Amino acid sequence: MSIRQPIVSVLGHVDHGKTKLLDEIRGTAVMQREAGLITQHIGATEVPIDHIYEVCSELIKQRNFTVPGLLFIDTPGHHSFTTLRARGGSLADLAILVIDINEGLKPQTIESINILRRFKTPFVIALNKVDLIPGWREHPGKPFILSQNDQMDQVKQALDNRLYELVGRFYKEGLSVDRYDRIEDFTKTIAMVPVSAKTGEGIPDLLLVLIGLAQRFLESMLETEEGGPGKGTILELKEEKGLGPTLDVIIYSGKLKRGDQVALGTRGDPVVTKVKAILKCKPLDEIREPRDRFDKLNEVHAAAGIKLSCQNVDGVVAGAPLMVIKGNRESVVEEMREETKVHIEIEDDGVLIKADAIGSLEALAYEAKNAEIPIRKYELGDISRRDVVEVAAYKDSLNRTILGFNVNMLQDAKESLTDADIKVFLNDVVYRLIEEYTEWRDEERTKIESDKRSLFAFPGKIRVLPGCVFRTSKPAIVGVRVLQGRIRPGQTLINQDGRDIGRIRSLRSGEEALKESIMGDEVAVAIEGATVGRQVDVEDILYVDILESRVKELQAFDLNDDERMILEEFIDIKRKTDKFWGM
Ligand code: GTP
Ligand code: MG
Repeated sequence: MSIRQPIVSVLGHVDHGKTKLLDEIRGTAVMQREAGLITQHIGATEVPIDHIYEVCSELIKQRNFTVPGLLFIDTPGHHSFTTLRARGGSLADLAILVIDINEGLKPQTIESINILRRFKTPFVIALNKVDLIPGWREHPGKPFILSQNDQMDQVKQALDNRLYELVGRFYKEGLSVDRYDRIEDFTKTIAMVPVSAKTGEGIPDLLLVLIGLAQRFLESMLETEEGGPGKGTILELKEEKGLGPTLDVIIYSGKLKRGDQVALGTRGDPVVTKVKAILKCKPLDEIREPRDRFDKLNEVHAAAGIKLSCQNVDGVVAGAPLMVIKGNRESVVEEMREETKVHIEIEDDGVLIKADAIGSLEALAYEAKNAEIPIRKYELGDISRRDVVEVAAYKDSLNRTILGFNVNMLQDAKESLTDADIKVFLNDVVYRLIEEYTEWRDEERTKIESDKRSLFAFPGKIRVLPGCVFRTSKPAIVGVRVLQGRIRPGQTLINQDGRDIGRIRSLRSGEEALKESIMGDEVAVAIEGATVGRQVDVEDILYVDILESRVKELQAFDLNDDERMILEEFIDIKRKTDKFWGM
């Protein structure tokens, strides 16, 4: 058994400097040693421990780490970190969260934090672009703690202000962070390392904190059986000129040889195929020469990022596993089935969620659960007409919804949407998608609630105004003032003795017919069945009649003080003739 290098993913908001930081890590190391030793893999950069010692030489004297180095994975844009998945957890053992110190926490930063938290991935924060703080004196390649000693007081102050702001922001996210050299217990506080990917300042500190984290948390996890069958995660499926379909894969365990039989995860059953070629990128400057971009290898060991040329890769999905088949093929395929199983709880009633990769589907489901959004069905892939038709048949209007993460609407789905009473939300930031849905859902709920209110006879109290009898009967039309509560057409009125007066046929204000009048309104009411001078007269106080069966429901409703008061008055009137009315 030996220890493999930890896989470190680099996450963060667009343009905060993930790629440049990796360039700089690569560059610094290359600068300090001969080029060939730093391997530029597909989407991954391997930095051996010796180079890390070199870079950190001003910070550490003793060489007492057992991890053999670090394998960095860049995550271009939002897409790929949800595919960084292995054994149902995170493919990354550690992470660097890159934050532009001048911008702070942005949507994809928060998205990244959510993912790191979900997988409990230890991480360090690289506060990038410190060179842009006004007045910063550059010290290329120097450790941050040395560089900052030479900064002017106001620069140190400006840096500290930004640090404290971030400490506050992270606190709101439920995380405790601090500048790395001020931390006593790294198991309780997450380290922030100010860096510049442009000048290389702080990179030694960053690497040191990472190696320290790796050493502390991971030694036991990273033991790998050197000759064991290779296991990996498929990052991307790509067509390469002259090679046909290829797979970008991170091998996290064991060994992979040319000619090996491998099982690959798909949307359905795993496919089994043979590895035709294992390809590795040439060093960076050679990639720019496009004729021969790849070296061919006979075998690779974990951890490594490689490109595979295989046949029969139809249906293979990003984020799915790769497993070398040694011995019993069925048992590997079975293990694979187990691993590609998506772990999402479903309910009898809920929404449909769709995403582009297994990892993103799980990320979406996880956040949906936190936001109490029930899921009825989940599926990989773009939104089709079938999805729209299916969801349109869901019973509850709040569930007649599709949440799509990193997916598109197919043309036929768009067309069928016009006659379907459903809502579709699309976004490529999970928590934004969740927010959009919950905002809509809350608004809908309020609407539904107020619709329900309008069905109820709500408490209301009016007075018939003097000098405003427009018609005495069939129907009687009188001017009234709404003293409290509300009145609506269709409701029955009673007087203070509890006697029925008649039914409100309509409400008018001038020419306008009203659906409702509320406290303070003066309106003309047409009352069916009443004659002015008999059942009703000016200055009479009238109440909206409420069914006995509704009283309990009403009392449970969110009534305001006024409504509650009239309801009490109303009940008192009723109890004059029936002692137990409404009990
Ligand atoms: P995406 O891959 O698109 O998500 O972006 P990224 O996070 O990889 O950012 P990238 O490395 O491409 O950097 C974005 C821009 O910021 C580039 O123009 C970099 O040159 C610049 N940049 C990155 N780091 C620094 C830094 O430390 N200082 C300064 N001044 N500029 C930087
Ligand atoms: Mg990038």
